[in-house]
Amino acid sequence: MTKAPAGGRPPLIRASGLTKRFGALTAVDHLEIEVAAGEIFGLVGPDGAGKTTTLRLLCGLVDADEGAAEIAGYDVRTHPDQVKDSLGYMAQRFGLYQDLTVDENMQFYSDLFGITRAERRRLLPRLLEMTRMAPFRNRRAGALSGGMKQKLALMCTLLHRPQVLLLDEPTTGVDPVSRRDFWVILQQLASEGITVLLTTAYLDEAERCGRVGLMHSGRLLRCAPPDDLKREFRERGLAVRRVGATEPVRPEKPTLEDVFIAFVEHSGESRG
Ligand SMILES: Nc1ncnc2c1ncn2[C@@H]1O[C@H](COP(=O)(O)OP(=O)(O)OP(=O)(O)O)[C@@H](O)[C@H]1O
Ligand SMILES: [Mg+2]
Repeated sequence: MTKAPAGGRPPLIRASGLTKRFGALTAVDHLEIEVAAGEIFGLVGPDGAGKTTTLRLLCGLVDADEGAAEIAGYDVRTHPDQVKDSLGYMAQRFGLYQDLTVDENMQFYSDLFGITRAERRRLLPRLLEMTRMAPFRNRRAGALSGGMKQKLALMCTLLHRPQVLLLDEPTTGVDPVSRRDFWVILQQLASEGITVLLTTAYLDEAERCGRVGLMHSGRLLRCAPPDDLKREFRERGLAVRRVGATEPVRPEKPTLEDVFIAFVEHSGESRG
């Protein structure tokens, strides 16, 4: 079950019937997603749910077995160049050059994207300020903290000013303070109209997304704003077994974690 974004604006990210198989395994199973301009959409799911494969399909890095993906209205299979211009992809293990400094990494990626000198002079200080990385511009990437590395990776991803950002677990291994910084940046980008689809293993973090897709075994179990998911949980009177508790509970104020666990258990039942 998928809900289209509110407001009737055209989607910047669209997956329809998107499916990827690896041998007998269906890593992504008929996925339907639409994300509108300025939305922050969170794809949530356990290890192996198919999150990275979904992002790689949306970039056109792997070919779908069925269905289609569109970025900014362009089919990723037939219009790879337009998709590349519109898209910033930060991979789960983004390729920073550990022996190069922050500045040198940004120069390297600017060269790669063909960013002009004038554009660099305008853009680099702004990115350094936004991420509060200016004091560290001469530090080697290998000597940065986990959170700073992720911020540098994000800066490199933003260099060609993409309309659409696909971020694969951008805050995994990042401390809570840096995670909050990261979210301030994401919200600023979204307020400028940039469309963000990110994956996360942190359900508290998913609360900050406008809409959340709950992914399990390649399938999207639900796709809705966090509050709607919690309301459905309460209205259906679902119960969840919390860590350390012997009996399932029906919490008055369920967390997204409660909701996710309950929906996963019910999806198993309905499939028999
Ligand atoms: N190139 C590949 N060849 C074979 N199987 C693959 C390949 N890539 C992914 N898979 C399998 O597809 C499934 C989904 O993997 P994927 O990396 O998309 O999950 P994920 O949700 O990103 O997990 P994680 O949270 O661990 O990053 C897994 O079972 C994985 O082993
Ligand atoms: Mg992954």
